[in-house]
Amino acid sequence: MSDLSTWVPACKLEDIEQEGAIRFDHAGRTYAVYRGPDDSVYCTTGLCTHEAIHLADGLVMDYEVECPKHSGAFDYRTGEALRLPACENLRTYPAEVVDGEVRVALG
Ligand code: FES
Repeated sequence: MSDLSTWVPACKLEDIEQEGAIRFDHAGRTYAVYRGPDDSVYCTTGLCTHEAIHLADGLVMDYEVECPKHSGAFDYRTGEALRLPACENLRTYPAEVVDGEVRVALG
């Protein structure tokens, strides 16, 4: 059972397009929250590890996000860097949907 004290409401599921992402800022940090093709949700740190570009502005296809600046790509489920010039993985955070609301565990 997860520790509820660490879960933060981010948005409603309907706020994110399927195979889409939105930026979520919390406590001075920025994150990207993704909705996969099967409506599963994921959260990563919001900035590309190559340069500090917001990944929520990138292209989401299937379970990958492509950085809008140099087309580096990540698997947003695991944070794995999939394509250069991005070579450092993203940090990931647990995410879930409860009653249509997306919550992320940032603790
Ligand atoms: S800033 Fe993201 S790949 Fe360069």
